Amino acid sequence: MQLKNRPRHVLTTTTTTVLPAVIIVLASVARSDGALCDKSDKAALLAVKSALGNPPALSGWNSTVGCCSWDGISCNATTGRVTELTVFALNISAPVPAAIARLTALQSINLAYNRLHGGIPAFLGPHALRDLTFLRLDGNRLSGPIPPTLTVLDLSLVGNRLSGPLPASFRADSFADLDLSDNQLTGDASLLFGAGKQLAALHLSRNRFRFDLGRVELPEAIDILEVDGNLIYGSIPAAAAARKWLAFNVSDNQLCGPIPQGRYTHRFGPSHFAGNKCLCGRPLPPCA
Ligand SMILES: *[C@@H]1O[C@H](CO)[C@@H](O)[C@H](O)[C@H]1NC(C)=O
Ligand SMILES: *[C@@H]1O[C@H](CO)[C@@H](O)[C@H](O)[C@H]1NC(C)=O
Ligand SMILES: *[C@@H]1O[C@H](CO)[C@@H](O)[C@H](O)[C@H]1NC(C)=O
Ligand SMILES: *[C@@H]1O[C@H](CO)[C@@H](O)[C@H](O)[C@H]1NC(C)=O
Repeated sequence: MQLKNRPRHVLTTTTTTVLPAVIIVLASVARSDGALCDKSDKAALLAVKSALGNPPALSGWNSTVGCCSWDGISCNATTGRVTELTVFALNISAPVPAAIARLTALQSINLAYNRLHGGIPAFLGPHALRDLTFLRLDGNRLSGPIPPTLTVLDLSLVGNRLSGPLPASFRADSFADLDLSDNQLTGDASLLFGAGKQLAALHLSRNRFRFDLGRVELPEAIDILEVDGNLIYGSIPAAAAARKWLAFNVSDNQLCGPIPQGRYTHRFGPSHFAGNKCLCGRPLPPCA
């Protein structure tokens, strides 16, 4: 900033040699104090703040520092584009702000534990936000169906009021970590499974999904499967015996048949399997 106050003649007499150096110095000063901030992203963030009702918790989103230094905001240091937006646990009551769609370099959005209401907008996905790989909307009051565009690699929608079936687009290999627990989702979730998929963690607990678990192929990397509290029928896939489970729960469904026996499933107690129609074998009573 001091460079701007230099006597004008210094710049004019030696423009050709000095100016490139001045530009480089200015650029590095801007970067090191976090002042570099894309102008239209800053305007979009102020529109987001306004749509959230200008909550006191976001009073630091003002022009005293560059927008890349605002709480919950990170930028790409080269471009000044906003890459992360976190408005976490601030008890904010509003719809998801449409201005987020203008932050097209976002990689990560975390709006968890507020009181956001209304539907999930279709721009929250890699169609509109090409670099988006992380989206948390858990612990809000969002309702309606899941939009087909919401195919985000690491996606959490836990604890909302979402209803209806999963969109057919969720059959594609889009997810590594998917948490849809504690909603009112219905229908077939078997489309999420498949041998070749990258899915590692799947949480569907406490919804109304209804499908035949015995017919799914477990993704190679899956080590978290929590589907308790649904209407899932059929049997537990035999391949479950050979997996190194970090978490596993199929309780409170309509499952039947023998529990696959393996090194990891042997560590499980009855609460991993309880409340089904006719599962049998260790740790439940023996099959007839
Ligand atoms: C602007 O943000 C700074 C923190 O970055 C804060 O100290 C200041 O109070 C804010 N100004 C207003 C008017 O809210
Ligand atoms: C920042 O943006 C540039 C230009 O788009 C890109 O090449 C670079 O990988 C980005 N940096 C990070 C850390 O994402
Ligand atoms: C959240 O906001 C509501 C309504 O403004 C208020 O009644 C409630 O006490 C707040 N909760 C917390 C934890 O601040
Ligand atoms: C499995 O889920 C049921 C129902 O949600 C719960 O009561 C039980 O504690 C869970 N067991 C394990 C091992 O997670």
